[in-house]
Amino acid sequence: MVGDWVDTELPRLNRAVLRSEIPHSAVADQTRDLLLPHLPAIDRLDPSEARRLVVRLGFVGASVARHYQEWNPGGKETPERAFDDLTVDGHPFRDYFAALAAHTGAGHYGRDSYASLVRWNVGTIEVRCGAELLAVLPGVFDDGNIRSYTGTPGEERFFLLVKQAEALELAVNEMLCPLSDEDACLVSEGAIERVRLATALILAMRSLFLDFAALPPDESMPADHFMDVFRQFAVHWTAGDIPPSGALDPEALKRDFLLGIAITDYDRHVRRLFPALLDGERATIEELMARPTLPQRLLDHLDLDAGTLADRSPAELRHLIGAHPALVDWYRLLTAHARAAGAHLMLSQKFLFKPQRRRDVAGQGDKPLVSNRRGTTGMNETFLERLTRARRNHPLAPLRTALTGETAEKVRAAEVPSAASVSVALVG
Ligand code: HEM
Repeated sequence: MVGDWVDTELPRLNRAVLRSEIPHSAVADQTRDLLLPHLPAIDRLDPSEARRLVVRLGFVGASVARHYQEWNPGGKETPERAFDDLTVDGHPFRDYFAALAAHTGAGHYGRDSYASLVRWNVGTIEVRCGAELLAVLPGVFDDGNIRSYTGTPGEERFFLLVKQAEALELAVNEMLCPLSDEDACLVSEGAIERVRLATALILAMRSLFLDFAALPPDESMPADHFMDVFRQFAVHWTAGDIPPSGALDPEALKRDFLLGIAITDYDRHVRRLFPALLDGERATIEELMARPTLPQRLLDHLDLDAGTLADRSPAELRHLIGAHPALVDWYRLLTAHARAAGAHLMLSQKFLFKPQRRRDVAGQGDKPLVSNRRGTTGMNETFLERLTRARRNHPLAPLRTALTGETAEKVRAAEVPSAASVSVALVG
């Protein structure tokens, strides 16, 4: 009953409120009268059941919070009041949610999150290169459905896109993580094979981004829907909490620490997001933060210094590459990482920053609930551009001058797996 109500009735109610066909209070009223009395005692649930319920109640909480803040003057300043009338067996809704989140055993946040909306909500994704299975990113449902705020295909496609990208990133990280062990050799044949496969996987993710952007709006997601409907559910539940965001994608964070990123205080920036991550994610990211980055270890191994690479002439760099051809593979990996960041920046511009600029020019202003001038954790276009530039300015970037045309082609090009041989499929 609880599942059906959240999966079918809640999106219908949300659509009706947004079209002003029913009062905005209908979602909270029906949640109180029809849903909450049927919620189970938490200690009767196993962790998988708790995870499924966290996903579903996450959508409920986001819907109640959004409508309250949108329709009550000053509601944005008192977000927690949205839940005033909602109790489960005498306990306030947010306390029940927090206990349920703890019962998942995953250290889940006390509100909806990237993990609940994307990873747990969307079914299992498999990543393959040719016939070889490289990574599996499970969900917690096996019903083939993707739950969303308003039950529209654009929202489902967006959640699917993000999870597919995360699965590819997981495959990349599983490929690269063993190389961050202290005694791993980064120029061995086995290491280079991993680096090349990781490169193909990152380029496959970039293609996923480009393909999504190239689709007509009714086959991807109309930007207006993203800005006015979808994003407006990412409101605060309590002042200062962390709403869901792509910025909480743990595999992207891990990749940044494996490959390095020249942003001052990046560790501090990521630690601020920690409450919204899961226990296992926090632990792995902490571990990776404490290790030297892979490019740094490579340079140390080859007795090279990133600073002095930039001072070498193209001829000297070509000589260096001749002595250490593995440098080309590492360069390609870091370049693929930067190009994927560039493609993501393009997505954020196409679906958010550019349409918002057009609205500003037309005098239409911003949305009062969730601003469309920045992401939900506060990143604006300038910051996303800075991240992309930092990834482009990687320690091997000076090799670019030596790798024009012929040289690039000559160095083992034929052996690199193609991004086209990578597949990423929803299997359950
Ligand atoms: C239409 C598609 C997309 C749009 C419009 C978009 C937009 C944004 C925005 C506005 C931010 C800033 C977030 C904040 O302030 O919290 C952001 C950050 C981020 N998004 Fe997306 N995003 C899209 C797709 C994706 C996908 C598919 C992924 C894949 C996993 C992803 C991963 C990230 C990451 C990792 C960040 C942190 C910034 C960075 O590391 O570069 N996004 N995105």
